[in-house]
Amino acid sequence: MPLEPPVVVVSGKDSFLVTSFKGKLHTHRGVIDLEELAGKSYGDEVKTHTGHAFKILPFAPSDFFRHFKRSATPIMPKDIGAIIVTCGLKPDSLVLDAGTGSGMIAAYIAYFNRYGEVVTVEKRREFAKIARENFRLANLKNVHQIVGDVNYVADGFKKEFDLIVLDMKDDYMFIPKAKKLLNAGGYLAVYNPYIEPSRRAYETMKKTGFVELECFELLKNDYEFRRVGTRPATKVWHTGFIVIGRKC
Ligand SMILES: C[S@@+](CC[C@H](N)C(=O)[O-])C[C@H]1O[C@@H](n2cnc3c(N)ncnc32)[C@H](O)[C@@H]1O
Repeated sequence: MPLEPPVVVVSGKDSFLVTSFKGKLHTHRGVIDLEELAGKSYGDEVKTHTGHAFKILPFAPSDFFRHFKRSATPIMPKDIGAIIVTCGLKPDSLVLDAGTGSGMIAAYIAYFNRYGEVVTVEKRREFAKIARENFRLANLKNVHQIVGDVNYVADGFKKEFDLIVLDMKDDYMFIPKAKKLLNAGGYLAVYNPYIEPSRRAYETMKKTGFVELECFELLKNDYEFRRVGTRPATKVWHTGFIVIGRKC
């Protein structure tokens, strides 16, 4: 099978996204003539004009976070993983995501929710456009974008959701509506970079009758291995707090 874009070209920790086999790719190791990629296979090498070799690899879900265009700050993979697993995402779920932002969590959920659908709502048109480009890059056909304020848009929903993810300002105001929109056993996950709104979300969910409530954060420590020894190399330590509850 001939190679088709998108692909990534990788050397050590460097990864470059290639969306077309035309033109030139400028890297700090030299320039790659992208026409050379046509006719190659995954795992083959392509060299820059200085002779530095990059390996050609498929554009994979692990590349979403590395290569998606950004608007608002996206949820990090460690937190997305925790939400997916704690909420027991099934591959045929109906999911509501608000707000879309860069579309990061919507894309990962859509990918793992292969036979289901993700409805994602964003009030800022320019952010929705960036997310749309990301969904197209990832070839995700099961994401439905709505541009508008979820507080109003949600009144038009006729189906019950298996999972609702909120990553937006004033999330607590939407929680009673989220409860109505979930099916019995469905999950609500609320992501927040600050603890005060997380506590407010937790307390609102408790008052609204959610069960199995929990609030947590995940801390990921990165390490670097140097000749002289090993030490932490974490760049982003705190990301956000996650509140999860289940409708009964
Ligand atoms: C932090 S970003 C979301 C990032 C996203 N979860 C991701 O992983 O890429 C928050 C987004 O919510 C949007 N937003 C805030 N209030 C909203 C509302 N009431 N309805 C829809 N979108 C809203 C903002 O415009 C912003 O793009």
